[in-house]
Amino acid sequence: MSDIDTNAIGLYTSSAEQLAEKLNTLLANYQVFYMNTRGYHWNVKGEQFFELHAKFEEIYTDLLTKVDEVAERILTLGYQPLHAYSDYAKVSQIQEDKQVADGKQCVQGLVKGFQVLIELQRELLSQASDADDEGTASLASDYIREQEKTVWMLNAYLG
Ligand SMILES: [Fe+2]
Repeated sequence: MSDIDTNAIGLYTSSAEQLAEKLNTLLANYQVFYMNTRGYHWNVKGEQFFELHAKFEEIYTDLLTKVDEVAERILTLGYQPLHAYSDYAKVSQIQEDKQVADGKQCVQGLVKGFQVLIELQRELLSQASDADDEGTASLASDYIREQEKTVWMLNAYLG
């Protein structure tokens, strides 16, 4: 393989570029979802405040870790992560969720957001596998497995 056609980690530039674009879409969704989850943490009210307030913090802390991992995967592929809220708002499929204070509605917002992330990550996984990009594929499959379990638990809460 010549270095004209491949990036620093030996992946074809054409597929790396498409993967970086998909990862940027994922990053934008993570950023909007992260802020939604902080909003739930701040605004939730009611008898289950203490339980939900703490659970939402656990979730947004994990989302923030993944934001950094996704952004740094884009850099590893040789591209630049989106880093402006204006770009995130344009690209994200997950919409801003404002003024939500009811515990069940907050949890429903989480389920909806995770469903979008899981779907995007399945597409990313398939794209990465086709490009022999094991690094991106394993990141995506780890996230899918973790978040599928989270969706089960959130749905159990909702009854
Ligand atoms: Fe807090």
